[in-house]
Amino acid sequence: MSDYNQAKADTFVQNQLQILNNAGIAIMISIGHQLKLFDVLAELPPSSSKEIATAANLNERYVREWLAAMVTGRVIEYDNGKKTYSLPQEYASTLTHKNYPNNLAVLMQFIPTLAQAEDKILERFKQGGGIGYAEYPKFHRVMAELSDQTVLAHLIETILPLNQDVVTKLKQGAYVADIGCGLGHAINLMAEHYPNSQFVGYDLCNDVVTEANQRAEKRQLKNVKYIEQDVANWKPQAEFDFITAFDAIHDQGQPAIVLENIVSALKDNGLFLMQDIKAHTNVHDNLENPVTPITYVISCLHCMPISLSQDGVGLGACWGKELAEDMLKDAGFSHVNVNELDHDILNYYYLARK
Ligand SMILES: C[S@@+](CC[C@H](N)C(=O)[O-])C[C@H]1O[C@@H](n2cnc3c(N)ncnc32)[C@H](O)[C@@H]1O
Repeated sequence: MSDYNQAKADTFVQNQLQILNNAGIAIMISIGHQLKLFDVLAELPPSSSKEIATAANLNERYVREWLAAMVTGRVIEYDNGKKTYSLPQEYASTLTHKNYPNNLAVLMQFIPTLAQAEDKILERFKQGGGIGYAEYPKFHRVMAELSDQTVLAHLIETILPLNQDVVTKLKQGAYVADIGCGLGHAINLMAEHYPNSQFVGYDLCNDVVTEANQRAEKRQLKNVKYIEQDVANWKPQAEFDFITAFDAIHDQGQPAIVLENIVSALKDNGLFLMQDIKAHTNVHDNLENPVTPITYVISCLHCMPISLSQDGVGLGACWGKELAEDMLKDAGFSHVNVNELDHDILNYYYLARK
């Protein structure tokens, strides 16, 4: 091995250590987010572990160990003389609930959430096949929290105005469907904002549909309903003015059929808004995209096995713009445009006209 480059090997070891440390810190950030520890720290002056645990109503020993991980991970600062911990306000700005919709801790939750399926994934690597939603008990909550930031916070002001005709129609009264609606946050917001329009959300998962209906009822929304429906077997004919799918096409078992069903479900000239992962189809073209490592990880641990569990094609989250545009056109859309929005580094916003 005459051309063995020792410096290259040494740098790689350093990178691996960094990856190991960061992966662990990501789990600690997820824990801090769920226990609202960052919110507590942001409100406190520099404090001892006992004061922080008391303010958060948590066990001091666990809080102290978490703080040590956070200090060595350079997330929280430690005053060695006074033995106090503090969260710099510059870090709090992307870690506290108050800083929704720019809270990066929300994303960290995907690592432990998806790692719950690791044993099943190990088996599938050997035998093939997929994994259903039941194996990811926290997925729908974490997904809704992410969509609250990427979709909900910008839906009315930025995303819908990508097409002014849609906004006008929604104000006048449109019939709207959301595909793979999850807990229904997007539909509920649109329903509240556009009371002259009627909304229906479709989702595969019964528990999600039940919760979505309960949430709509609690908000006293009369123009919304949620239906349990596999959209691969959904056959409405030219009923809808506008159909949306937020992060819900790439993990379909039969995405080509679902896209064709969406075309059939739209009235002539109807519009489909598809938010889906920002990536190119060819892996090489994704090397400079700062978020494709994590999107391929989420894809391998969740999106692809979900699709395969439905005897599906397993597109993967990074199916990419090139394939997405081809598939939209093959499904029968006459015109497709792809939008990038400043607030969302993870997704493209496709507008496809029937
Ligand atoms: C990644 S989640 C996105 C949820 C939601 N749109 C959001 O942005 O939070 C994908 C959703 O699509 C649903 N789904 C997947 N395959 C489906 C199918 N064939 N028919 C209906 N819903 C499906 C899942 O249950 C899940 O709620």
